This record gives sequence, C-alpha cells and structure tokens, in this order.
Amino acid sequence: MPGLTSGKAAGAGRAYAVAVNLSSTRILCAALLAAAAWPSQARPVPAPTRGQLLYETHCIECHTTQMHWREGRKARSWTSLKAQVLRWQQAANLAWDDADVEEVTRHLNATVYHFVQPQRSARTRLAGASAD
Ligand code: HEC
Repeated sequence: MPGLTSGKAAGAGRAYAVAVNLSSTRILCAALLAAAAWPSQARPVPAPTRGQLLYETHCIECHTTQMHWREGRKARSWTSLKAQVLRWQQAANLAWDDADVEEVTRHLNATVYHFVQPQRSARTRLAGASAD
C-alpha cells in the first residue's frame, strides 16, 4: 500500500534524524571532554621574561628579528649589543634604568645574538681586554 510505504519511509527518516542527533551529542561530549582535558595536556608555556615584554612592547614596532641578523650588524658583542639597546631606548624616550637595559639585552642575546655575557665578577678582569 502506498500509505504504508510512505509511513515506513517517514519512520526511517525520523530514525535517521535521531541517529544524527545522537552522534552530534556524542561529538559535543567528546569536545567537552577534550576541552576539560586540555589544561593537563597542554605543554606549559614559559612565562615571558621582563626583557621580552619590554622589547615586544616598545621595540618591535619598527623592526623584526630580521633586523638583528642583517649583514654588518652593529651589535658585535654583549657590550655593543647593550650599547645599542641603551641607544634605542633613549631614542624612544623610555627612560629605562640599567636593569631594564640589561633585561632587554639579555632577551635579545638569548633569542638572536648568543654573545658570551661577561660575568659581573669577570668584568673588572676583562676591562683591559676589548670585549669586541
Ligand atoms: C623608531 C624605530 C625604532 C624603534 C622604536 C626601535 N628601533 Fe632598534 N633599530 C631601528 C633601526 C632603523 C635600526 C637599524 C639602523 C641603525 O642601527 O641605526 C635599529 C637597530 C637596532 C639594533 C642593532 C641591530 C644590529 O645588530 O645592527 C638594536 C640592538 C636595536 N635596534 C634595539 C632596539 C631596542 C632594544 C628598541 C626598544 C627600546 C628599539 N631598537 C627600538 C629602529 C628602531
């Protein structure tokens, strides 16, 4: 009978809709579980250093890290790198103290330059020798 056939078809359609709803509920549950599990699975991101924050706030508006790799770069040692940081914070009128300059120099050195940083105790000994 045509009525019965179409009734069956409608029933099948309804069953299909229920299956879809169920599976989307399952997907939602899986997503919620994944979200709940996320913090324990995420690798801890190291907190940015003070030097990084200062640099990212005040300095990268003009130059990317590319600037620090260029040919004939001005920073050729820890001392000259620190001199450049001092120069640029003056140019930007930031009035950083020595600790800030040191922090940003350390950040740039750790991320880009990798110069040997003279130790405080060794500084007097190295004073006679050129650090460049
Ligand atoms: C107004 C734009 C501008 C700002 C702001 C700026 N810089 Fe620069 N910086 C430059 C330019 C242009 C150069 C390359 C030309 C030069 O050395 O005179 C440069 C070069 C440098 C160099 C030397 C790169 C090398 O090895 O040759 C360092 C280090 C540096 N900047 C650090 C900083 C720091 C730290 C700050 C934030 C306090 C800063 N800059 C903010 C434009 C800027």
